Amino acid sequence: MNLTTNYLGLQLKHPIMPGASPLTNRLACIRELEDAGASAIVLASLFEEQVRLTQTERLRLENRLSETDNTNDAFAFFEGSDAYAFGPDEYLEHIYRAKVAVDIPIIASLNARTPTTWVDFARSVQQAGADAIELNLYFLPTDPDTDGVAIEDRMLEIVTSVRQNSSLPLAVKLSPFFSSLPHFANRLAAAGVKSIVLFNRFYQPDINVRFREVAPKLELSDSSELLLRLRWLAILSGRVPVDLAVTGGAHTPNDVIKSLLAGADTVQVVSALLRYGPQHLRSLVNGLTSYLEEHRFRSLAELRGKLNLVNTANPEAYERANYVHSLLFWDR
Ligand SMILES: Cc1cc2nc3c(=O)[nH]c(=O)nc-3n(C[C@H](O)[C@H](O)[C@H](O)COP(=O)(O)O)c2cc1C
Repeated sequence: MNLTTNYLGLQLKHPIMPGASPLTNRLACIRELEDAGASAIVLASLFEEQVRLTQTERLRLENRLSETDNTNDAFAFFEGSDAYAFGPDEYLEHIYRAKVAVDIPIIASLNARTPTTWVDFARSVQQAGADAIELNLYFLPTDPDTDGVAIEDRMLEIVTSVRQNSSLPLAVKLSPFFSSLPHFANRLAAAGVKSIVLFNRFYQPDINVRFREVAPKLELSDSSELLLRLRWLAILSGRVPVDLAVTGGAHTPNDVIKSLLAGADTVQVVSALLRYGPQHLRSLVNGLTSYLEEHRFRSLAELRGKLNLVNTANPEAYERANYVHSLLFWDR
């Protein structure tokens, strides 16, 4: 079965790839993922906090910043540079080494919150040999005076900053909370974004009642998280001129098939690989192939988007009618 997939202008052998995670921090693991059949690799992110931290440390070393300068205040809560797997220079080196180590495309991931930091770095990522950039716009609005348009404008500024400094194909990884995601997706496409990755997980902090503290918490996903993504894939697919990647809740071959039916071009997997190991990728690819053969699909293109909002016989199932129906018939 021919599973070839065009994503970000890259010709992939199939649509399934490991998403950004520490699995891609080691070259040995990157090779293992390629051996397990990965069609591309998304590297773990370089966080803006790291780049800023390094810039500040350099300025201090060069005595261009006094001890009392507080340029880094906004980043005060964040870890010191030791906590990250790579500093910015090492990240570039890692891209280069990963490219040499494997034959599949390497997608660098930048985790951004302001436009200025990326001006030089986006260029360096390209020079290091990355095939594409995935820009993670993880931003949590907490300021009551900032409206949604201002937040979207700021995200677009970051996109523009990266686009102006790198000609690499650009994917943007988003969170699900927008007043009108389709409208913002269109704005991203107009700004030159080639793919949207749906969605960041918010690792909701818990509260420890004994110590009355807010406690960070990371739990791996399960398939139930896919449902939110399926709906938005279906809404965007075929209606916004970008590729669509899903991340969040893809664990089984059926999860992959559902994502493709809803309109995903590619499927990123992290939790399942952390739980079962890189070889799990192979069972996902095999499961997809068996399904296509059993159901007599001649190509992946016949399956993709078959149940998106444009193609489904029952578009209401993705819309308000689903909400009303779910509430009325909850016990049946
Ligand atoms: C331990 C861990 C580290 C991660 N690191 C990153 C990262 O560096 N950058 C990023 O964009 N996403 C990161 N993610 C999020 C994943 O790429 C993915 O979007 C998320 O886990 C949802 O997919 P899943 O349900 O397959 O796990 C990380 C996830 C985990 C569990």
